[in-house]
Amino acid sequence: MKSVVIKKPGELVIEERALPEPGLGEVRVKIRYASICGSDVHIWHGHNPFARYPRVIGHEFFGVIDKTGESVATARLGERVAVDPVVSCGHCYPCSVGRPNVCSELQVIGVHRDGGFSEYACVPAGNAYQLPETIPDKLASLIEPFTIAANITAFVKPTPQDVALIYGAGPMGLTALQVLKGVYGVKRIIVADRIDERLLMATDSGADVVLNNSQVALAEQLQGEKPTLIIDAACHPSILPEAIALASPAARIGLLGFSADACTITQQSMTSKEISLFTSRLNSKRFPAVIDWMTHGKIAPEKLVTHYFPLAEVEQAMTLFEKDPHTCCKVILSME
Ligand code: NAI
Ligand code: MN
Ligand code: ZN
Repeated sequence: MKSVVIKKPGELVIEERALPEPGLGEVRVKIRYASICGSDVHIWHGHNPFARYPRVIGHEFFGVIDKTGESVATARLGERVAVDPVVSCGHCYPCSVGRPNVCSELQVIGVHRDGGFSEYACVPAGNAYQLPETIPDKLASLIEPFTIAANITAFVKPTPQDVALIYGAGPMGLTALQVLKGVYGVKRIIVADRIDERLLMATDSGADVVLNNSQVALAEQLQGEKPTLIIDAACHPSILPEAIALASPAARIGLLGFSADACTITQQSMTSKEISLFTSRLNSKRFPAVIDWMTHGKIAPEKLVTHYFPLAEVEQAMTLFEKDPHTCCKVILSME
């Protein structure tokens, strides 16, 4: 089989590898589509602190079960499945309180173990979620990025009367936007980005107001309107202090970023308004919810897709994705 391997930081190759055999409790997935994420690019360039090399990247993927390992029902052969990349131990403290996404022995498929930019991958059977026929193959790899939005919104508990502000109209901001609108019915959603083309995508995904904050600060553009719910899907460390300043009293803020750089916030700025701050990493068993939302048309993953490439052109696809945020949102690799 062909697999996209990052041999070491900076070195991407398409390698011919032996077909993997599913182990105890695993299934082998013949992969059809896999989408590119910023973190794949980070692993390629050596900027992901969790990655180990050599690594087959890719954590957003879909395919068909073509072999079952020991103790997995052979009835699962032929199932169309989306794969949850979060592999957890099941018995540590976070696992015991329903937070397997921060398991103390967390393994992320495509980061800590080999992933989905490959013709086949073996994964724990419980991570492979069967899809209804209503979800087309070409969009099924987008379930994973929507689980990020599902996870953070479960923390911030949106309501229709919220005034929401989303920083960033990249894939993460747009998935959060669609979930706030289509699942939670938030009436007023403001999206801020520095790139007009991305703001157009936000309008297409249901934003009520889009603001380009590259020249004029948001505080000025908001004209005193105070968001009650803020999601930071742009993740520059300067954003949190600004978000706290802009937020309404009693607002909730959700953070998705992994920056190692410091930012300065004061207790007073948060406690005086009793701001709640939530962080969210990956997803805790959110695949069933997202599959349900897609099935019922509550979210529109097709609006995020700008390109398809064959697996053989992975390097061009990842380069385009990285260098051209004006024209790219989700870029999907096809294995056929
Ligand atoms: P992206 O880079 O495509 O999108 C970020 C967007 O934010 C860009 O359109 C950019 O123009 C905009 N932006 C940058 N600075 C801004 C500012 N000060 N104000 C307004 N907009 C600004 O990235 P993507 O894929 O959407 O991911 C966003 C972030 O989410 C990344 O930092 C990534 O690490 C993080 N992430 C977190 C996950 C989690 O589980 N916590 C999972 C996936 C991504
Ligand atoms: Mn991703
Ligand atoms: Zn655990």
